Amino acid sequence: MPDLPDVFITRAIPEAALQLLASALPGLRVAVNPRDANLTPAEIASMAAGAQGLICTLADDISRALIESLPRLRVIATYAVGTNNIDLAAARERGIVVANTPDVLTDATAEVAVGLMLACARRFIEGDVLTRQGSFRGWAPLFHLGFGVYGKTVGIVGAGRIGLRVARTMRHGFDCRVLYTARRAHPEFEEQVQATRADVNSLLEQSDFVSLHCPLTPQTKHLIDGSRLARMKRSAFLINTARGPVVDESALVEALKAGRIAGAGLDVFEQEPALAPGLAGLGNVTLLPHIGSATVETRQRMGLMCAQAIIDVLGGREPANRVVPG
Ligand code: DGY
Repeated sequence: MPDLPDVFITRAIPEAALQLLASALPGLRVAVNPRDANLTPAEIASMAAGAQGLICTLADDISRALIESLPRLRVIATYAVGTNNIDLAAARERGIVVANTPDVLTDATAEVAVGLMLACARRFIEGDVLTRQGSFRGWAPLFHLGFGVYGKTVGIVGAGRIGLRVARTMRHGFDCRVLYTARRAHPEFEEQVQATRADVNSLLEQSDFVSLHCPLTPQTKHLIDGSRLARMKRSAFLINTARGPVVDESALVEALKAGRIAGAGLDVFEQEPALAPGLAGLGNVTLLPHIGSATVETRQRMGLMCAQAIIDVLGGREPANRVVPG
C-alpha cells in the first residue's frame, strides 16, 4: 500500500472501477484495504490518512470523529444507496461531498425482496433441506404445504425506487393488491400499480406480505416493534431488504416463536453480521447474508459510480449522485 494515498477504498471492489480511476486521474495514488475484512474506524483513519477521497461501504462507521481525523478529505463515495452509517452533518460542516449509488441497485434489491416472499410463502429453503436430507418420500396431498402469493395484498413500507419496483412486480406479475405507506402521497404508486396509501398500522393489519423499503433514520429505527408485529395477520410474512434496525429483531424472534406471524424473510440484520439470539434456530424465517445488490452487474455499476464521484469531485465538478442531507 503506498504511503498517504490520495484515495482510500475500504474493501476490494471490481477492477473496472480501479481502472476508471487510473485512466481518468493518472498518477492518482489509490490504496485498497488489503485484508478480506471490514476495518475499524481507527484502521480507516490510519490507512486513509492524507486521502482526499474515500470509497466506503455500508459496513463502515463513518462517524464525526473519523471524518474529523481526515483533514484533507473532500469526497466520500459510499458503495450503497443507504447512508445511515455516515455522519452527513459532520461531512457537510467540513464541506465534504457525500455521494451514493442509487438506481443501479433497484432491480437487484427488488429481486431479493420478491424472492424472499416466494421463498417464505412456499417454504423453498425448508424444502431444499429436507430433499437433500433424503426426507422427500414422494408426493402427497398434505405434504409441505405453503401459502400462495398470487392475488394477495402486499404492503410496501417506504415509497422509494425499490419499493416501487417491488410493487410493480407484485402487481403486474402476481396480480396483487398494493398498499403503501409514506410521509407524502406518491402518485406513481397510484398510477403504476393502482396502490392505496395507508398509515402503517392499517397497512400492517391488511397485508399478507409486508415489505420494508424505507431508509434507516431515527424515525424508522424499530418502526416494526412488538406492538406493530402484533397488528399483522397471523398468516402474514414480514420481508426486510432495507436495514436491520428498522425491525426490533428480538421482538421479531418472539413473534415468530409464538406464531404471531407466519414467517419472515430477512436480508438485513440489526447487528450485522450477528443475528439476534434464537433467530437462526427458527424454521419460519428465511435468512440471507445482505445480498440485495449482490449481482456481478450491479456491483460493477456501483463501483463505477463510486469511482466517477471521486473523479468528479477531485476534478472540481459536482457528482451526479450527491447525497443532500435532509
Ligand atoms: C444499499 O445500497 O443500501 C444496499 O443495502 C447495498 O446492498
